[in-house]
Amino acid sequence: MKKNVVIANDHGAVDLKQLLVRHLQNRGYEVLNLGVDDEQSVDYPDMAEQGCREMLKGGYEFLVLCCGTGIGISISANKIEGIRCALPQNSFAARMAKEHNNVNAIAFGGRIEYPEPVTDMIDAFIDSEFQGGRHGTRVDKIMKLQNCSLA
Ligand code: RB5
Repeated sequence: MKKNVVIANDHGAVDLKQLLVRHLQNRGYEVLNLGVDDEQSVDYPDMAEQGCREMLKGGYEFLVLCCGTGIGISISANKIEGIRCALPQNSFAARMAKEHNNVNAIAFGGRIEYPEPVTDMIDAFIDSEFQGGRHGTRVDKIMKLQNCSLA
């Protein structure tokens, strides 16, 4: 059975999104392609919401979010209950995002010069396993911070 992923992007990451769609398809994923496929200007929080809404319906292995820097779309996603989104700098961080943080979303920037191909970074993420144990305790603590008002 094919594994499913969702991807969503704004106009700052159209080429990167398309590259990742092809890469994920070549890896055997069924990719739900949301966001935009041309340069029309859209707001990244809306694209984050679209992607997260679909991800939270269930049945997806993970969500990929792309904007110009990956920053706005990852911040937006992390406001949504049930989403834990990483914005890795390189393959090491992408691997750690799974091994230690067990994220269900990963963000990249279409206007960022990464030290290695983003396809290698997403492969590092996909090909790693959550380590559990003390990392599970910490992830549980992250999720308890949802809706936490310190005011
Ligand atoms: C859009 O111009 C740009 O602000 C957006 O893609 C992203 O970089 C925001 O964090």
